[in-house]
Amino acid sequence: MIQKDISLLPYNTFGIDVKASYFASFESVEELQNLLKDTITKDHPIFCIGGGSNLLFTNDFDGVILHSIIKGYSILEQTNDSIVVKVGSGETWDDFVALCVKNTWYGAENLSGIPGQVGASAIQNIGAYGVEAKDIIEQVECIEIETGETCTFDVDELDYGYRHSRFKTEWKEQYIITSVSYRLSLSPHYNLEYGGLEAMVNALGKVSLQTVREAVLHIRNAKLPDPKVLGNAGSFFMNPIITNEEFIQLQNKWDKLPHFILPDNRVKVPAAWLIDQAGWKGKQIGAAAVHETQPLVLVNKENASGNDILHLADTITKDIYEKFGIQLHREVILIE
Ligand code: EPU
Repeated sequence: MIQKDISLLPYNTFGIDVKASYFASFESVEELQNLLKDTITKDHPIFCIGGGSNLLFTNDFDGVILHSIIKGYSILEQTNDSIVVKVGSGETWDDFVALCVKNTWYGAENLSGIPGQVGASAIQNIGAYGVEAKDIIEQVECIEIETGETCTFDVDELDYGYRHSRFKTEWKEQYIITSVSYRLSLSPHYNLEYGGLEAMVNALGKVSLQTVREAVLHIRNAKLPDPKVLGNAGSFFMNPIITNEEFIQLQNKWDKLPHFILPDNRVKVPAAWLIDQAGWKGKQIGAAAVHETQPLVLVNKENASGNDILHLADTITKDIYEKFGIQLHREVILIE
């Protein structure tokens, strides 16, 4: 089941041509447990990969890449108001969103079009247009790498925040997600507050799950490059969160700085605006470039290496710090 010297080109949307010493897909919990008992897996570093849409490889990976192809949906619970659906971690995220829309299950529609798999939604807390995965996640089932045992975590145990979960910090590389259960609403409710979404929905017709999905896909397609055409991993950086004092100081100099005040009074500012303002939009260094319509996205122009992309990212980070005193942080996970 474990293959040797496998190219990771089909497994990362940046289109970086690196190899893994070992590679294995698993389509069930039992298959994963067996793989974890294998001496090759025991003796090497492990990395679990989903759709590879949020990763940057800078070198060949001298370890075992495990790839979930666990499929399937099952309904765990249904009340008058809501339904809980358990989804295999290897399902494509957007197929799940499409299924919710088709069945008139409310809650996932704003997350239409996000590349990647269901498992990653629970690690990364994917978010777009005012909704985050944590808003609909109920439980996450995993295998603990060390013991091979199954564990189930409730959403409250996972310390979710903006593009953050416990799986990214203290539990990093300790668990492999095998399924995620989502609670969707059965009564109509929409979240159209994010700039431009409501207007786009109205332009398409009456508000419905279909029109919201269509509007989100439309806005995304207008701004974000298709990874099949131009290698990228979506937003490369997170939107920085600064203190209110820092924000007021910045606003004195940059009065047009867009911002979003968080419940704890800190301020989120769009990294895209900072990068745009600093003149990076469309700029290219070597084979890596800043996307023309969404400067938060770095793109692979001509067979870039991971280090080409990283060099561009580091140069931008340094420049933004010098110009604005703001430290950008990567959203993309770096595998060195
Ligand atoms: N902006 C510019 N110049 C540009 C583009 C944007 O100044 O060329 C400024 C504008 O002020 C705009 C603001 O940036 O209002 C925000 O732009 P946008 O609404 O496109 O969203 P974003 O903050 O850049 C975030 C997510 C996206 C998500 C969108 C929509 C992060 C890191 N990114 O981007 O997520 O689709 O909001 O909700 O939070 C991803 O994570 O890969 C991703 C694409």
